[in-house]
Amino acid sequence: MPAHRLHNFGAGPAVLPLSVVEEVQQSLPNFQNTGLGLLELSHRSKAFQGVVDSAVARVKRVLSVPDDYTVLFLQGGASLQFYMTALNLLRPGEAADYLVTGTWAKKALEEGKKVGDAKGIWTDAPNNFRSVPQNGAYQVRSEAVYLHYTTNNTIYGTEYHHTPDSHGKPLVADMSSDIAGVPLEAAKHQLIYAGAQKNLGPSGVTMVILSPWALSRVPSGLPAMLDYAVQSKEPSLYNTPNCFGIFVLERMFNWVENNGGLEGMIARNRRKQELLYTELDRSSFWKPHAAKDSRSWMNVTWRLPSEELEELFVKEAKAADMDGLKGHRSVGGIRASMYNALEPASVEVLVAFMRDFEKRKG
Ligand SMILES: Cc1ncc(COP(=O)(O)O)c(C=O)c1O
Repeated sequence: MPAHRLHNFGAGPAVLPLSVVEEVQQSLPNFQNTGLGLLELSHRSKAFQGVVDSAVARVKRVLSVPDDYTVLFLQGGASLQFYMTALNLLRPGEAADYLVTGTWAKKALEEGKKVGDAKGIWTDAPNNFRSVPQNGAYQVRSEAVYLHYTTNNTIYGTEYHHTPDSHGKPLVADMSSDIAGVPLEAAKHQLIYAGAQKNLGPSGVTMVILSPWALSRVPSGLPAMLDYAVQSKEPSLYNTPNCFGIFVLERMFNWVENNGGLEGMIARNRRKQELLYTELDRSSFWKPHAAKDSRSWMNVTWRLPSEELEELFVKEAKAADMDGLKGHRSVGGIRASMYNALEPASVEVLVAFMRDFEKRKG
């Protein structure tokens, strides 16, 4: 371990709890007294099957996933799920509707269009994605097979604070950047997917949660690796999975359960976002990007009066041990990502730095 760790505000891969990093470290030479290291263990071994089973059980407990849903740990990132969801749920020519709230939502739509009649039915693009839609702001087509949305828009810093009304259609969600960090009504969704590298662990694992309806939609003859039915027969073990990533994810959910479960994470994240948004609202020196009703708890985005000041802010923050604050080029300015593992104390350090910076430069 380095002498000290920085306050990690990076958007992902992101901060993990030190206790989890240390558990991973200890598992490398000799995993659970098997005499084999975590990276040297067969995915068909009893010990690894235990990891998968425990991971699934913890996910279901923490996120209140209905018993008859299937939890998979796949590869290819959330980006593969953009295509795979459509491929498995749609027949050629069938319709699906998308709420287009940012870069990732747009990419999901573009992949959906390669399979069927995918359509963006709401977008805030002309406003550079400051908002997510409220219920009633869009119309789902009667022929749509499902409605797809992105719970949290990592780049723009917007987030739904409600489960969107799908007008009776099955709901499909990309939850890559807020899963297990904010309230979730899993049972209202037919398909959920999330890359692990923000709230759940390392990159290289994608969690997919499928309802019986989603599995019933899978057409025959899909390429095996892209077929949810094939992947579900021996869950997460159709081929050699990312054993390392699944282990870290299992330890992350253990950490979540030891820290109050989803309710514990919500309380922790509520406190962090209150601290930061209170500071952003205190002075007109800060110019938050997201509309108030759409503010993300996970990725907070804002501008300063000039690009020179923004550059200086990032540079001085880095010198004060705060990393990852440079905003994505689509918004510019500053982005502070505050995933589950980020300690509230790190946000306190950031806010104290902001007050001092404004005093000197405002
Ligand atoms: C909301 C969201 N969806 C999808 C992706 C793409 O994920 P991946 O890199 O795992 O394909 C990201 C990446 O940051 C994201 O934030």
